[in-house]
Amino acid sequence: MFDSIKDQIKNYKKIVFVTGAGISQESGIPTFRGKDGLWRNHDAMKLATIDAFYDNPKLVWEWYNERRKNIFQAHANPGHKAIAELEKYAQVTILTQNIDGLHQKSGSSEVLELHGSIVKIKCSVCNYKEEILTEISNLPPLCKCGNILRPDVVWFGEPLPQDVWQNAIDFASQCDLMIIAGTSLVVSPANTLPLYAKQNNATLIEINPENTEMSKEMNEIIRKTSAETLPKLVSLFKK
Ligand code: APR
Repeated sequence: MFDSIKDQIKNYKKIVFVTGAGISQESGIPTFRGKDGLWRNHDAMKLATIDAFYDNPKLVWEWYNERRKNIFQAHANPGHKAIAELEKYAQVTILTQNIDGLHQKSGSSEVLELHGSIVKIKCSVCNYKEEILTEISNLPPLCKCGNILRPDVVWFGEPLPQDVWQNAIDFASQCDLMIIAGTSLVVSPANTLPLYAKQNNATLIEINPENTEMSKEMNEIIRKTSAETLPKLVSLFKK
């Protein structure tokens, strides 16, 4: 494990993690497309698009309330914690598609949330934004301006916040090691990040029990879970 980097581990100064739902699977948060994934039993087009929201905001909010409950009860697992600990040894940036905030909860300081955050909500019309750490009652919630409030997440068909995405590209393009953990890499544009790293001749390592669309681009593939694998990466830096 980590054979491709073991001998030169101390040379890696800028490490970027690209993470997805799989890294929080061992915290009890379901993935989207893995075994028991949310999109296997729910229609994403009825729950995670702006059209679905305008069609039935109450249904979308009920679904997000369920996810809020699940996520607020979840704890960071050894995978998240290992990434946080790695900051002692190298410059670490996390580009995450997750909205669960578990990287931040485990102590990581440089986290770019590409798809938004479960605690944030915003007005569907005006610029109002807020953070709410409880379940939302009286669905759908309304803004002071009278329009409907929505989760501040990126839905299918929506662009990523421009500044966040530009920063993500910059970090990916400048890293010397990219670890891609717990993502199927099917969702664009996050799935292009490994290609930016590759252009910089970075080493690419995938941690995922399953094959992904980009597995062929990797220097090394570890077909194990992130919670069992990432602490082993940290122990290499400790030696
Ligand atoms: N450790 C590592 N990887 C795991 C684990 C685990 N314990 N459990 C599952 N996986 C892997 C699965 O094999 C799968 O390849 O995690 C991946 C999860 O993929 P997806 O469910 O597609 O999640 P993700 O890639 O984050 O999805 C991207 O899709 O619907 C959207 O906005 C949502 O951000 C999400 C985006």
